[in-house]
Amino acid sequence: MRKKIVAGNWKMNKDLKESQLLIEALKAQSLAAEVSVMIAPTFVNLTTALESVKGSAIEVIAQNMHYADNGAFTGEISAEMLKSVGLKTVILGHSERRSYFGETDEILEKKVFQAINNGLQIMFCFGEELEDRKAGTHFHLVASQLKNALFSLPKEAWAHIILAYEPVWAIGTGETASAEQAQEMHAFIRKTIADAYHSELADAVSILYGGSVKPGNAVEIFSKPDVDGGLIGGAALVASDFAAIVNAFN
Ligand code: PGA
Repeated sequence: MRKKIVAGNWKMNKDLKESQLLIEALKAQSLAAEVSVMIAPTFVNLTTALESVKGSAIEVIAQNMHYADNGAFTGEISAEMLKSVGLKTVILGHSERRSYFGETDEILEKKVFQAINNGLQIMFCFGEELEDRKAGTHFHLVASQLKNALFSLPKEAWAHIILAYEPVWAIGTGETASAEQAQEMHAFIRKTIADAYHSELADAVSILYGGSVKPGNAVEIFSKPDVDGGLIGGAALVASDFAAIVNAFN
């Protein structure tokens, strides 16, 4: 059985006090026990967040990391640093990293290998821009993003990979892919992995949908057979909305 996962990507939001208040508010919500719940605060608030989630099943995860072991990379964070504070999971390849910070498939492949070599679990994000969808090249683009960054991994590494399909046109725009569009792409992703590896491996990978998921649309999106949860931006900043999304599986 694939894991159901709902992760909140807080992006560059919430200072120390606000992060603590949001975690307290989340801990006061009742969250479906069969769903793995993750939150990704900013780097400076990771250690306090780890303290704050104690006594709950919420996992604190990182939004990014560098591919080098250490060295002269001002402003960057290494896999070892994440591990040293107690983190087990890192988001890689978010579309904002790709578009604002120049992260290419090539850079992401290095980050993926660095994370895997350090025993970290990866939440790997990818997805097409609006022009790709309009041009009908979205399946091709998504397949190439997966192939370029992930398909040289050995099959054992896939036990540590969570995928998050996030069509860029749906992130923070209020525009969501329809549940049918999400299912169609998720089934395609699973088939692409099955073709590159094996169908059993593909069936075991959790594939999350991200892009304007809200309490009002989560039930329908999560009802689709190949959608195993969501990566949530804006709605993750409000405890009751995030909890409603966690509890949106039938
Ligand atoms: P959104 O962000 O839910 O605000 O669209 C999703 C994401 O960027 O992961």
